[in-house]
Amino acid sequence: MKNQRNITFTISLLFVLTLFSCNGDKVTKKDITIIPEPAVIEYGNGYFKIDDKTLVIADTNNPEIFKLANTLIERLNSAADLDIKIKKQSKNINQIILELLENEDLGEEGYHLLVQNNIVRLQANKAAGLFYGIQTIFQLLPVDIFSYQKVNNIEWHIPCVEITDKPRFSWRGMHLDVSRHFFPPEFIKKYIDIIALHKMNIFHWHLTDDNGWRIEINKYPGLTDISAWRVDREDKHWKEREPQKEDEKATYGGFYTQEEIREIVEYAGSKYVRVLPEIEMPGHTSEVFAAYPEYSCTGKIFTVRPGSYWPNSEIFCAGNDSVFVFLEGILSEVINLFPFEYIHIGGDEADKTRWKACPKCQSRINKENLKDEDELQSYFIKRIEKYLTSRNKKLIGWDEILEGGLASDATVMSWRGLDGGIAAAKLGHDVIMCPGTHCYFDHYQADPESQPLAIGGYTNLKKVYSFNPIPKSLNKDEEAYVLGGQANVWTEYIPDPEHIEYMALPRMTALAEVLWTPENKRNWRNFRKRLIIQYERFDRLGINYYNSKQ
Ligand code: ACM
Ligand code: ZN
Repeated sequence: MKNQRNITFTISLLFVLTLFSCNGDKVTKKDITIIPEPAVIEYGNGYFKIDDKTLVIADTNNPEIFKLANTLIERLNSAADLDIKIKKQSKNINQIILELLENEDLGEEGYHLLVQNNIVRLQANKAAGLFYGIQTIFQLLPVDIFSYQKVNNIEWHIPCVEITDKPRFSWRGMHLDVSRHFFPPEFIKKYIDIIALHKMNIFHWHLTDDNGWRIEINKYPGLTDISAWRVDREDKHWKEREPQKEDEKATYGGFYTQEEIREIVEYAGSKYVRVLPEIEMPGHTSEVFAAYPEYSCTGKIFTVRPGSYWPNSEIFCAGNDSVFVFLEGILSEVINLFPFEYIHIGGDEADKTRWKACPKCQSRINKENLKDEDELQSYFIKRIEKYLTSRNKKLIGWDEILEGGLASDATVMSWRGLDGGIAAAKLGHDVIMCPGTHCYFDHYQADPESQPLAIGGYTNLKKVYSFNPIPKSLNKDEEAYVLGGQANVWTEYIPDPEHIEYMALPRMTALAEVLWTPENKRNWRNFRKRLIIQYERFDRLGINYYNSKQ
């Protein structure tokens, strides 16, 4: 390793020396608009010109690298109307070289990019790093590189720079609630594109909740025949929606087939985005009881809710063993669909009213020597964790899973502020920070008078940009448990894809920089300047956003 470091250092030194041999005008900070801002940039002179004679050099025998080389030339050949080829090697001097090079400093996702007059060299430890380096190359090119149409009469230049870059956090997530409103698979792919554009790497897919079950489970067809559908009350305020009437049919909703899910997961993988499925339990599950009432405490049949009613008391019975058979049957299929090592089991806002009155739940409390209903929830989650562990998966839950005692290897998603995350980190558990104050993108992003109806709250761009996932009260050892952060996009008040984009952007752009860029390189004024070009990229890509200035 020591030798490797010396070699790397020598190579880096050579790069620096060659960089300054570049010809042309000095490149300056204002010529460059990369978001998120890279860890280290050195500015050279002049630029690398891309034309039909340019070659991309990559290991064509490595399918993953070959695919990455293709993502680079596809955009160049379409938007820039060029005819660039991939070769394994060439004596041609006008080259963009993509290569894997062992360099532990770059970690799993970092890259090193050197742009000189005649050659561009992108190196990374792992393929994900090359992917992020390619995103940076796109952002170094004229903004029309993001255009779907061919754009002529432009010189396709990359300014001479040397960039050494890697993310601050390994967990850079975006959540999406598809229960309150269902969004088609094509949009899910677009959402993943937007995540990848921001060098984020987790898509948290909130697949089940009171307003609709969205994942096909072969063993339990009622979940998609019945629990996926509600009545259409879109003309009414979310909190004033009359439940389904006896003579009404539930026609509003939808679900993703297992085939669609597999395709989406594979698509996400090709963009280095991992998909975290969330299956809610024990609460936020009333839609399940529309099809399978036997798994609630009361056994009553419900219809799927077209809006929210509070309190939300219908939850899984924790005293009924067949509930666990049911959930394990579901999770077994979920596990087969999602290769990511984590499964999110919800755990938030479970109202315990029914458990207090349920003979089976009370009998479980007695038999298991539990103190109260909080400990019963802990029993529930621990039992599910045991199953997930037996299938080599790790459990994530919202911070309520701390109540009554945390399951042994659980990762905590801290949404009610940072405190849950702090408590979990101090107990030696991994944590993802997504406090409502900074990371709830269903909140208003500007004066409500100027905005479409939202759930409430106020989280403007500047607030997101000021987010620090590492609380001051953690010591160095405890800090290491904070894997990163994510934003949550709940969709009670967001009925269509364009509106999701509007709520997510540009706040997601700010969060991406929070989670990628070293803290000491974050600069709000400079970010706002770069945002203007990011908006132009969104325009070219057909992505909706709020034209936020603050
Ligand atoms: C949540 O917002 N209920 C996690
Ligand atoms: Zn019960």
